[in-house]
Amino acid sequence: MSNMVIIGAQWGDEGKGKIVDLLSAQSDYIVRFQGGNNAGHTVIVNGEEYILHLIPSGILHKGKVCLIGNGVVLDPAVFCQELDALASKGVDVSPAFLKISRKTHLIMPYHRALDQAREGARMEEEKIGTTGRGIGPAYEDKITRIGVRASDLEDLELLRRKVEIALAEKNALLTGLYNCAPICPDAVMEELIPLARRLTPYLADVSSVLQQACLEGKNVMFEGAQGTHLDIDHGTYPFVTSSNTIAGNAAAGAGVGPRELEKIIGIVKAYTTRVGGGPFPTQLDCAIGRHLQTQGAEIGATTKRVRRCGWFDAVLVREAVRLNSLTELALTKLDVLSGLEELKICVAYKYRGVEIQYPPQAEAALAEVEPVYESLPGWSEDITRAKNMTDLPVNARAYISRIEELVGVKAGLISVGPDRSQTFTR
Ligand code: IMP
Repeated sequence: MSNMVIIGAQWGDEGKGKIVDLLSAQSDYIVRFQGGNNAGHTVIVNGEEYILHLIPSGILHKGKVCLIGNGVVLDPAVFCQELDALASKGVDVSPAFLKISRKTHLIMPYHRALDQAREGARMEEEKIGTTGRGIGPAYEDKITRIGVRASDLEDLELLRRKVEIALAEKNALLTGLYNCAPICPDAVMEELIPLARRLTPYLADVSSVLQQACLEGKNVMFEGAQGTHLDIDHGTYPFVTSSNTIAGNAAAGAGVGPRELEKIIGIVKAYTTRVGGGPFPTQLDCAIGRHLQTQGAEIGATTKRVRRCGWFDAVLVREAVRLNSLTELALTKLDVLSGLEELKICVAYKYRGVEIQYPPQAEAALAEVEPVYESLPGWSEDITRAKNMTDLPVNARAYISRIEELVGVKAGLISVGPDRSQTFTR
């Protein structure tokens, strides 16, 4: 085994939760390096359902050390809610197994308020469809250098000063521009002080913890959130999240050197989905789209929104292979395609009359492209009990091979159902 980075190769919701859970068993340390509680993982262990937004699902495996890296934005209230929910189910959430980097930025109540006020004020076609969790405004403050970091919870005087400075600006926006009520520093501190007491035992130098782990030859999993095409730089801007979701950020967001990143696994759904705003070339607004939605239970774990569904887009995944240096794919939800007579794969785009192999760079161009499809025959068999490639119908094998050929990377893991056991390696 070796260190591995797990990232989503599409627009998030590729089924990372299950793969992360599965591969956590082989890792000693699991670290999140970006995003916040905009992510959502549903994991079912022994019939018990756990929905986690912030704490790595590795916590459900006894003895694993779960870390929240500096690249994450952490909502202290959500962190404490997850602690309580896990503890009530008998999961060990003691600081020995769960640590937060002192450099992690915190999501404050005014970040949530601004996120929602801004999104509410946008024209319908300009709405990003944010999760409203304050992710963008928290990253904004980090970059503007007025952010609150986890280490500030150990110095309440500094914390109060920072909150006051930030609120002077936020309240001007909230009241002057968005017609919202101002937020009082006292109220923020009242919420934060008990949370600070609970969080401080979890604060650690995550970078050094990881360095030591690597020196000792332990296996580290870098757990990504969202997906490649929601990346702040390389995604479908402005319909993106506020962090770098691609594998390269695993190093910066966890505090390790890039040579520690070895295997890079891209999770891809056997079709494409997207939640929130933004262009989606292979979207299906027809019975096939609805088949994918219902068979695939395409409803978000965080916001409960129904996801838009469409054909597999090899152009997007080819770009993800390039941006992340993917060493292998994990192909999920193959079973959802069962029962469709014909399957289409988008192999290229037509953009202003020219066929292109990678997404165009200009901001609005993806909304203009036309997918170039290739058709493959579907299969009707139930594949949810397949344990290896030979258990799959020949058409399912051909579908996988064609995807591999088009994107240039092999699928090392295939998932054919929601349960941990419904996954096989090749
Ligand atoms: P934000 O991350 O809440 O700012 O939302 C920005 C965009 O990213 C919106 O379109 C969200 O729906 C999308 N998004 C954020 N997190 C996830 C995720 O975990 N899965 C899929 N989409 C996400």
